[in-house]
Amino acid sequence: MSALYCVFGNPVAHSRSPDIHHAFAKQKEEDLCYEKREAPLADFVGALQAFRADGGLGANVTVPFKEQAFGQCDAVTERANQAGAVNTLWWDGDQLNGDNTDGAGLVKDICDNLAWQIQGKRVLVLGAGGAVRGVMGPLLAEKPTLVRIANRTAEKAEILARQFMDGSNSPVLGSGLEGLSGQFDVVINAISAGLHGEMPALPDGLLADGAVAYDMVYGKEPTPFMRWAEAQGAAAVSDGLGMLVEQAAEAFEIWRGWRPDTAPVMAMLR
Ligand code: ATR
Repeated sequence: MSALYCVFGNPVAHSRSPDIHHAFAKQKEEDLCYEKREAPLADFVGALQAFRADGGLGANVTVPFKEQAFGQCDAVTERANQAGAVNTLWWDGDQLNGDNTDGAGLVKDICDNLAWQIQGKRVLVLGAGGAVRGVMGPLLAEKPTLVRIANRTAEKAEILARQFMDGSNSPVLGSGLEGLSGQFDVVINAISAGLHGEMPALPDGLLADGAVAYDMVYGKEPTPFMRWAEAQGAAAVSDGLGMLVEQAAEAFEIWRGWRPDTAPVMAMLR
């Protein structure tokens, strides 16, 4: 029988995760079946139990279940604990374990694949939702000079900044989008309206000379954020496809015990 994994989400039909994990498995001819499972909004726990009863070994979790999944775990990693959310689950006997590989995926794509630097750089993060909470820990571990979180609802950015300021070597500041000022070397977009919607209005001049811009979402076309950053003179821009593949590789390694090669899988998806 194939080793069974899945991604839980709602909706989940659009997910590329099965393609990614099947491509990883093929690198060592492993027999792996990775499904999309749309959990009912009101019954994630039931869907999780049904999956385990079907012989499921591990799962990814996407919107809107990452926080609920966290709550179901018997043990979580430190980075998942910081995020208050998990995107990767696996069982050890009856024990359900959780990790959050999103931040590691983001940092790996930015620092290794794109060869951009975070260390010693001024970082601006747009948005203060679950996606930001999920990546702040690994981002701060790269030792940026500072991280400013700017969000439509200023209070959410302030709360998040305070949470991550504790124990961080870099200053973490939170504020609204209105009146945002300063210059930044790395701008990361995690505003969920980013893919289809418009970019919120931002002042000119936020990008320092040589600044780079990363959108955590991906699409066939450059996102509104990527177009905005280019118009603002960004030296380089990227969407989040690499983050998707790298967070998957991190999960795959937890489950299967070896690290797949991500470059050919990224090329296949493009
Ligand atoms: P995610 O898991 O993608 O982070 P989320 O937790 O719902 O999803 O967070 C969505 C983020 O996108 C929030 O930062 C939200 O801003 P608010 O906290 O003010 O709601 C931001 N966002 C969504 N639509 C937006 C828009 N039209 N303009 C500005 N920010 C927007």
